[in-house]
Amino acid sequence: MTALSAELSAIAGAAFAAEGLSETFGHVQRSDRPDLAQFQCNGALAAAKQAKTNPREVAQKVAARLKANPLFFKVEIAGPGFINLDVTDEELGVRLGTMAKDRRLGAPQTGKGKALVIDFGGPNVAKAMHVGHLRSAVIGDSLQRLFRANDWTVTSDIHMGDWGLQMGQLISEIAHRGIAPVYFDPNYTGEYPAQSPVTMDDLEEIYPAASAACKADPARLDEARKATAELQAGRRGYRALWQQFFNVSKVGLDREFSSLGIHFDMWKGEASVDRITVPMVEDLKARHIAIESDGALVIPVERNTDKKEMPPLILVKSDGAVLYGTTDLATVVDRVREQNPDLILYVVDQRQHLHFEQVFRAAEKAGLKGKAALEHAGFGTMNGTDGKPFKTRAGGVMKLFDLIAMVTAEAEKRLTEQGIGEDYSAEERADIARKVGIATLKFADLSNYRLTDYIFDLERFSKFEGKTGPYLQYAAVRMQSILRKADAKDLQPHARAILHSPEERALILHLLGLHDAMAGAEAKRAPNILCEYAFELAQAFSRFYAAFHILSESDDAVRASRLGLCGLTLAVLTKVLALLGIEVPERM
Ligand code: ARG
Repeated sequence: MTALSAELSAIAGAAFAAEGLSETFGHVQRSDRPDLAQFQCNGALAAAKQAKTNPREVAQKVAARLKANPLFFKVEIAGPGFINLDVTDEELGVRLGTMAKDRRLGAPQTGKGKALVIDFGGPNVAKAMHVGHLRSAVIGDSLQRLFRANDWTVTSDIHMGDWGLQMGQLISEIAHRGIAPVYFDPNYTGEYPAQSPVTMDDLEEIYPAASAACKADPARLDEARKATAELQAGRRGYRALWQQFFNVSKVGLDREFSSLGIHFDMWKGEASVDRITVPMVEDLKARHIAIESDGALVIPVERNTDKKEMPPLILVKSDGAVLYGTTDLATVVDRVREQNPDLILYVVDQRQHLHFEQVFRAAEKAGLKGKAALEHAGFGTMNGTDGKPFKTRAGGVMKLFDLIAMVTAEAEKRLTEQGIGEDYSAEERADIARKVGIATLKFADLSNYRLTDYIFDLERFSKFEGKTGPYLQYAAVRMQSILRKADAKDLQPHARAILHSPEERALILHLLGLHDAMAGAEAKRAPNILCEYAFELAQAFSRFYAAFHILSESDDAVRASRLGLCGLTLAVLTKVLALLGIEVPERM
């Protein structure tokens, strides 16, 4: 199924072509002035400029051709040569019927036959997560849902930070404490215990202590560096200990991300490309792509078109250690081998942009990226109401659980304020509060364009009115309730609308715009487009609902048509909220 705007563009394009002009001038979009028209085509202006004629004349000729098409109810020329278009109610109804019958609700199929690897989350083993990891997880999860819905074959990878100095710091701290001597015995050849010697809670205490010890004492830092190098070189006991850290962290992180409804297909990380790294570096050296520079091995990536300085990508430091860029380059190799993707998307803090630019250029130069386009989808900072990077009330270390508890408590307060669910069981109320709390958090984050910094104002984003997650959930719940009441009275919906009013027309046009919203959000890697769409849809529905009594309408056909509209609006709203990772409670 093609979107209505694409269909209209094709028709307008043909009209331009018939006038000997390029059909690309036929691009049709939703009107900027919905009070004047449903759609508009601005191509006559550019076409006239190119053909050096009068734009109104071009518009008139094109409009005359469009008028001959029974699809249009109205074809008008406005201003210097804009063409305003309205589609007949009959044709809108037909398209609505087709959309309602489609299981995918007319979603685009931009990803058909294409594979995406999406890299997001990126927490570091043992180190505390910060809001950057939260934003990456929320935005990345929404993008993975969207790309999947648009028919891409998607593989998500959490890409854990598990290979840096923090691992050596943990190992040497554990050595000092004498917690698990077997891992440090160089003569030990037996199996290591299945049970981890440390828990997640232990790691949370050990890492800050280790890090402080290294700051205070250069000898300790040296030890940590040495342990890191030995780990990377493959010392058996260290590898076994590393595996325990990884496993323990994975269980903890999975629990935290799952409670936000966020899942990853792969739990790989910097360490998982360890075996690829050495042969890759050797190969790059042999091909003179990597060169010596001040004792280090680097890949120069500057181009003569660069306006800013572009430092080389450092592959191996003079002390033999590999770096963040090395593991990221090897990860490209791994992904090309395993998934052979058309696109690799990195949802990572914008402050890492230079790093990715270096990695992408190095991959390009070395011919390592297969058919994949490499792209950094960066994001800005989530700040608190004080304008500084957001911290939970407890301050410092951010635990997702604390954050979820905080938004859930706020949601509970709001539910009480609104008098919602007073008679529900404590269990159901808690479940609703959790869903509303998570919606508050995710919508606050996703409704801003990802690159803009924003202030997480819990007070504002937890409200049941305005552009918030809870408002949209409440709107969907209201639709559910109308449909339930209709069902109880055995009133049947009909998907093909009978149009009588501007409110219905506006709602239908908005519903038919789902395809464009999903395509646009994919193209810009921008879930905020979906947020905007969902909010406008809820408002269009609200105006429609305020204008008519649906259940008490006496004309059977009209009532059925309006119930059908309600059902489709609910399906579309639920789908878009799901793309944002937001669940709709059964009732509120
Ligand atoms: N672990 C990194 C950090 O905390 C993020 C990883 C992002 N992904 C990547 N392929 N570099 O900053």
